[in-house]
Amino acid sequence: MDQDELKRAAALAALEFVVDGEVVGVGTGSTANHFIDGLATIKQRIRGAVASSEASATRLAGHGIRLLDLNDVERMPVYVDGADEIDPGLSMIKGGGGALTREKIVAAVAERFVCICDASKRVRHLGKYPLPVEVIPMARAHVARRLSALGGEPRLREGFVTDNGNQILDVHGLTIDDPVALEAEIDHVAGVVSNGLFAIRGADVLLMAAADGVERRLRS
Ligand code: A5P
Repeated sequence: MDQDELKRAAALAALEFVVDGEVVGVGTGSTANHFIDGLATIKQRIRGAVASSEASATRLAGHGIRLLDLNDVERMPVYVDGADEIDPGLSMIKGGGGALTREKIVAAVAERFVCICDASKRVRHLGKYPLPVEVIPMARAHVARRLSALGGEPRLREGFVTDNGNQILDVHGLTIDDPVALEAEIDHVAGVVSNGLFAIRGADVLLMAAADGVERRLRS
């Protein structure tokens, strides 16, 4: 199986976590797109979906899946999304597609975060993948100085604007010994909207596809 087939296998394995009659939170990216395509086959069983990006909303709508506003949702049993890196404690780096803020918001409402990915996303320590940080444009230089002081090398994602009208700094070379502490520290810098560490609220379930099948892991 090639990488895209592995992503699809992980995504389809997540369908069994969808709860009948309830709302599904939907992530963003190529793996989440496979999940959306799979969700279309059982769309009559769910109340609707909340999208974490305009791109995912468009794909959901294209399948005729009912879109819900997060503000109208009180209960969301599951959120399904990919990751750029995931460590043994199920902390993640996300935001390669730039949707990190809405992903984090929708995930915060969900009772369970199901991470779907291929085995290339597994790492022992987070940080080889540059950490995306969404910033209010006027704060970009200030935030970049603070990220440099933390030991990283922030680079503006050129020509990219988030769904929220902001910019992304991709931070290279960070040493991430304590993902929970670093996530909180970066979020406290004035001008940061959110950062791509998902450690305070990591994944609860990991569905990781490799050539020999889809491995399931629960957060311990
Ligand atoms: C989107 O902003 C990201 O968080 C994605 O979930 C992440 O980059 C994984 O993307 P792929 O499924 O395309 O690898």
